[in-house]
Amino acid sequence: MNPRPKIVITHPLTPRVLREELDAKARVVLATRRATILRELRDAEGLVSLLTVRVDEELLRAAPRLRAVGNVAVGLDNIDLQACARRGIRVVNTPRVLTRATAELALALLLAAARRLPEGERLARSGKWKGWDPDQLHGLDLRGRHAVIAGPGQIGTEFGRILRALGLTVEFISRAESEPRVRAKLRRAQVLSLHMPLQPESRHWLSASRLACLPGDAIVVNTARGPVIDEAALIRALRSRRIFAAGLDVYEREPRIPRALRALQNVVLLPHLGSSTRETREAMARAAASGVVAVLAGRSPWNLVKTPVRERRH
Ligand code: DGY
Repeated sequence: MNPRPKIVITHPLTPRVLREELDAKARVVLATRRATILRELRDAEGLVSLLTVRVDEELLRAAPRLRAVGNVAVGLDNIDLQACARRGIRVVNTPRVLTRATAELALALLLAAARRLPEGERLARSGKWKGWDPDQLHGLDLRGRHAVIAGPGQIGTEFGRILRALGLTVEFISRAESEPRVRAKLRRAQVLSLHMPLQPESRHWLSASRLACLPGDAIVVNTARGPVIDEAALIRALRSRRIFAAGLDVYEREPRIPRALRALQNVVLLPHLGSSTRETREAMARAAASGVVAVLAGRSPWNLVKTPVRERRH
């Protein structure tokens, strides 16, 4: 093994992670633009990259010596895992370290949507507030409501724990559930929070017809990936007040947020901040960087991704 393999990083990470995980073990090159990333990958063995970098056939063709990819994210939809597996490239990501931060952001979105915080904040800033008013900006109580969590992975499970502690009842929808069961749960979902990975089968998981199952006081929260919701259908449901509100951290075509969505009052919009705390972002950078170094040293890191075997069509 090369004692100091070349690792391309597509973001400076943090000085501490660079110092403690990479500097002594690798020759680190920072490349942020796609053309530069592809050029630097020609002789690199490792890549530590962000979810905004597509690790696809084009990139892999430009990287003949690549053996390890570290995604500074838990979601892997930006990575062609099958193409990596075909080339023997191992992939690591950042599970666990961002679970709590993302679940807390889902809670922040839920509270903000239920209590109409952005509307209140805008009013307070506008200079037009006329004083306490018993009819002003009524929200919804959370205690006693029923929450449905679609995607019972680490983040969904943690969010469920938090909601139970707040006095909500919680049930989960797993991947294997039949359509009638999914719809029965959606009919009860006063809170619906999405936590599944983006895969071909989860695209538009919350479709127009499933949205139509939700009760009128439902709040939809999405901290997973934008395309798991049919965004146009959600906009229609919010605009017609078919549901109470939504709290969104992710969008179908990031960074584009449709004007029609931005114009609505009953939606809380955040710019993909799920894991964005100082501690968590540092832990994510460390997990991705140390995982790549471990793979290049012939070890099997804790955060190695198991590539799903895709069935061949005959
Ligand atoms: C992830 O890790 O997939 C998150 O979306 C990053 O914030």
